[in-house]
Amino acid sequence: MRRQVLLAGLETRDCRATGAAEGDESALFEALVDHLRPAWNGGRVRLLLSAFAPSTPDRPGPRVWNSQLIRYAGYRQPDGSVVGDPETADLTAAAQRLGWRGRGTDYDVLPLVVQQPECEPRYFDLPPDAVPEVQISHPDHPWFEQLGLRWHAFPTISNQILELGGLRYTLAPFSAWYTCTEIGARNLSDTNRYDKLPEVARGMGLDTGRDRTLWRDRALLELTVAVLHSYDQAGVSIVDHHFATKQFVRHEEREYKSGRSCPADWSAIVPATSGSATPVWQRRCEPTRELPNFSPHQAPWPTGGAEG
Ligand code: ARG
Repeated sequence: MRRQVLLAGLETRDCRATGAAEGDESALFEALVDHLRPAWNGGRVRLLLSAFAPSTPDRPGPRVWNSQLIRYAGYRQPDGSVVGDPETADLTAAAQRLGWRGRGTDYDVLPLVVQQPECEPRYFDLPPDAVPEVQISHPDHPWFEQLGLRWHAFPTISNQILELGGLRYTLAPFSAWYTCTEIGARNLSDTNRYDKLPEVARGMGLDTGRDRTLWRDRALLELTVAVLHSYDQAGVSIVDHHFATKQFVRHEEREYKSGRSCPADWSAIVPATSGSATPVWQRRCEPTRELPNFSPHQAPWPTGGAEG
């Protein structure tokens, strides 16, 4: 059994003075690329947050339009289907309106759309070496690799406002490592995302004609096995949902012992598969609004609603 080796503890970068000059989007972009490299750390992913200038009473702070610094484009087709990640279809269309042209594949990395207060947004393509990815293969099924599935190595949330110490940091991207279920049991399998379960099930020789064969459930599990295996093989930090939930329970106990409450988002804590096989299944999470906290930016395009 492989031991989980993780670097614990959040590190922060002080970018409050970056790109202060009006219209200086490229300095912000450079600093965002400079966030990705140490967060990646050659595969031993770090918990890293970069705080840029907060809003002041007379000037809002900068922002990026992307929900994560690394994300794949989603191209809406005339028939309503999407090539790539349907989750980013609005952002992709917005980037195209600014003049960006993608290649049109399933895994085109989106440019960063950077906006200084009261300025037009500008887009910048990420250098390929700042975008580590993992090709997905399965430990027991050689055909799995032929599906051509991949995912970016780690998430970096970038559309959340950090409210802290009476200030609003409108650009405060933070990176972490993945839990395998986020990719295997959501991003690559949700019917409104990459929707890959039918292909995986067909590869496994399952009868997809009837729900009762539980082909979705079996494909979901093998896809998640494949994600964990592939990240391990590539030497990229990732945790399984059993480890992650035990770690959360330990954290919760420490918080209670210190006389603090431990507010959480149930859907972020209970994994998308095998919830009942983890120690967090019984948890009840009451909605709370405490500070410091993150809250999502309003989507910048007219359709409204935050992208998530
Ligand atoms: N679920 C999101 C994604 O699949 C990432 C959310 C943050 N996840 C994390 N492990 N810190 O990209």
